[in-house]
Amino acid sequence: MKKIIRVWDLPIRLFHWLLVVCIVLSFITVKIGGNAMDFHARIGYCVLSLIIFRICWGLIGSHHARFIHFVPSPKGLLNYLSGKAKAGLGHNPLGALSVLGLLFSVGLQAVTGLFANDDIAFKGPFAKYVSSGTVEFLTSIHRQNEKILIALIVIHLCAIFYYQKFKGENLIKPMLLGDKEIDPSEEAKYLPADLGQASKDGGLQRGLALLLLSLIAITLGYFITR
Ligand code: HEM
Ligand code: HEM
Repeated sequence: MKKIIRVWDLPIRLFHWLLVVCIVLSFITVKIGGNAMDFHARIGYCVLSLIIFRICWGLIGSHHARFIHFVPSPKGLLNYLSGKAKAGLGHNPLGALSVLGLLFSVGLQAVTGLFANDDIAFKGPFAKYVSSGTVEFLTSIHRQNEKILIALIVIHLCAIFYYQKFKGENLIKPMLLGDKEIDPSEEAKYLPADLGQASKDGGLQRGLALLLLSLIAITLGYFITR
């Protein structure tokens, strides 16, 4: 019988799919331009709240959500690349680097957006606090980082496709439903400690995550509308 282990708690899954929807909408709204820039900014605030939430959840969240359980040491990364290390249930060491890159690039995009100016009618809410030189600099980072973000997303999608096609591992289902199903014949592939390590995903964790995200959004909203 297959072993079913909860890997991605509901807060992580909602974080991921909401992030995907918001990023797609932010690209659509910026291409429309004009009045849609207002939506572009609002979606950007949602993205920023999600990223701050994810950083906090990486410190206090469930087992596989925590940075300490998936960010690799240089030795761990080398062992993984040379095929010596056993697989973990959460992000693998290479995947972890891609996750960190995505979180950083998305976060940078949202933060620089707060100061950006489109030279027509729209200005980020924090542009008024800094010099015009700084606004110009942060706007140019907002523009340049677009390409980096797109590249990271393409690599992310290629990696998921690669795992599906060449390693026979469906990563999307656990990101949708939360669980990984481990066949007894495959157990030897995994770290024994990891096989006993499910992510807690009960009402208490979910309530805490909702409270945390609400507090982050309210605090951000306060500073943005001040
Ligand atoms: C805007 C595009 C996307 C962004 C910015 C993005 C970002 C991320 C991030 C930050 C994570 C880490 C989750 C965490 O630990 O918090 C992740 C994981 C993941 N994403 Fe995405 N994602 C995007 C699109 C997609 C799409 C379209 C799919 C499905 C086809 C997908 C499937 C996955 C899967 C399966 C994982 C888990 C990978 C693993 O098992 O290590 N992502 N993504
Ligand atoms: C993660 C969230 C965000 C993404 C993915 C994103 C993406 C983009 C992209 C792709 C562009 C077009 C850049 C170009 O001209 O080539 C852009 C422009 C812009 N964004 Fe964002 N953005 C985000 C958040 C924000 C936020 C929070 C604000 C403001 C509150 C903002 C304000 C602007 C402005 C003013 C421009 C026009 C800059 C210019 O004319 O070059 N963005 N954004």
